[in-house]
Amino acid sequence: MKNVLVTGGAGFIGSNFVRFLLEHEPEVRVINLDALTYAGSLENLQHLPDEGRHEFIHGDICDRALVEDVLRRFEVDTVVHFAAESHVDRSILGPGLFVQTNVVGTFTLLDSARLFWKERPDLLPGARFHHVSTDEVFGTLGPNDPPFNEQTPYAPNSPYSASKAASDHLARAYFHTYGLPVTISNCTNNYGPYQFPEKLIPLMVLNALEGKRLPVYGDGMQVRDWLYVEDHCEAIYRVLMQGRVGETYAIGGNNQPPNIEIVHTICAVMDELHPQGAPHERLIEYVTDRPGHDRRYAMAIDKIRSELGWQPRQTLASGLRKTVAWYLENPAWVAAIRERSDYQTWMQKNYAERGAKK
Ligand code: NAD
Ligand code: DAU
Repeated sequence: MKNVLVTGGAGFIGSNFVRFLLEHEPEVRVINLDALTYAGSLENLQHLPDEGRHEFIHGDICDRALVEDVLRRFEVDTVVHFAAESHVDRSILGPGLFVQTNVVGTFTLLDSARLFWKERPDLLPGARFHHVSTDEVFGTLGPNDPPFNEQTPYAPNSPYSASKAASDHLARAYFHTYGLPVTISNCTNNYGPYQFPEKLIPLMVLNALEGKRLPVYGDGMQVRDWLYVEDHCEAIYRVLMQGRVGETYAIGGNNQPPNIEIVHTICAVMDELHPQGAPHERLIEYVTDRPGHDRRYAMAIDKIRSELGWQPRQTLASGLRKTVAWYLENPAWVAAIRERSDYQTWMQKNYAERGAKK
């Protein structure tokens, strides 16, 4: 691994991964291709360790000529593909962009990598294309169902998860048909520093900080499996270093409380670290549910644990505390994100009509 192309490296998980890689691999050069959509920000890439080894390229993964040029120019031997439209609520309001970025974009990268490594067989023996995906491709679990694992059939329920499922199938097909050295990981909900505040945890922290309502969808009893972002980065790194080509790895946090419990925990940590607005629980408001809302996700991580020796380091309690503290300690980042007009527009669009639950 010498020249690593990270797509979506200005987003939440991608920027954490860029940081992780620069810290853990002192020889690699990281080429970061990101379109800087509403979710991507150069603010996420401030103060990188050893910045000289990081090259940022502002561009679209659907732009074939650009992708081919980047692969050639930087002699890329490893692709770690994060770039995506990632928010379920946005996919419900505007699914077309999800098909474009997640399906066409992934295809463009896979096909460009295939042709480039054919041109450069010297790079192929060590080459890797890692596709970062989600547990949402497996659909939803009933209360007593066993957790998802690598064998669970695909059953995506939202335009977001359907587009990710399609991209997983393309990645798998490129391994089987062309022998492209693909690995895939399907991970559960991430949280931590640099997450755009449209997602549950940062949204609750930042709203609580400003004394705004904390909108809980439906009955708040939906279950997600929460993983601290740095643990996810380490899991991807292990797959890159030790994972078997053609394999899928399920990644999860072993933390599965209902949403309302997460919100209560955030309120309790806020009461302690930012007592001005206490008790923050008074801000909780139940609002109209997300259409087609998946009820429960959970992931079995036996394969990655036994094959690659990975398991999460953070508990939900320790991870949430670190996360709340990070948002409180980084007011400049928070202000920069909040000031963006697309953030304001989104908050209005998603929540203005999402009234209090009857
Ligand atoms: P994010 O929305 O925070 O970041 C996505 C990044 O991709 C942004 O920087 C954006 O600018 C960039 N991007 C979007 N369209 C692009 C395009 N056409 N060309 C180039 N760059 C583009 O997303 P995230 O939460 O960091 O998720 C990263 C990946 O991990 C996604 O593939 C997502 O499906 C997957 N994933 C996320 C989670 C989670 O909980 N956040 C869990 C499992 C898997
Ligand atoms: O499971 C992995 C997926 O997790 C990733 O693939 C997605 O990219 C990521 O966005 C995330 O999807 P979710 O839909 O689970 O995340 P979100 O933070 O949007 O919502 C988490 C839960 O909280 C979900 O049940 C909806 C609920 N929710 C969310 C928001 C934003 C609320 O109750 N209120 C809110 O304001």
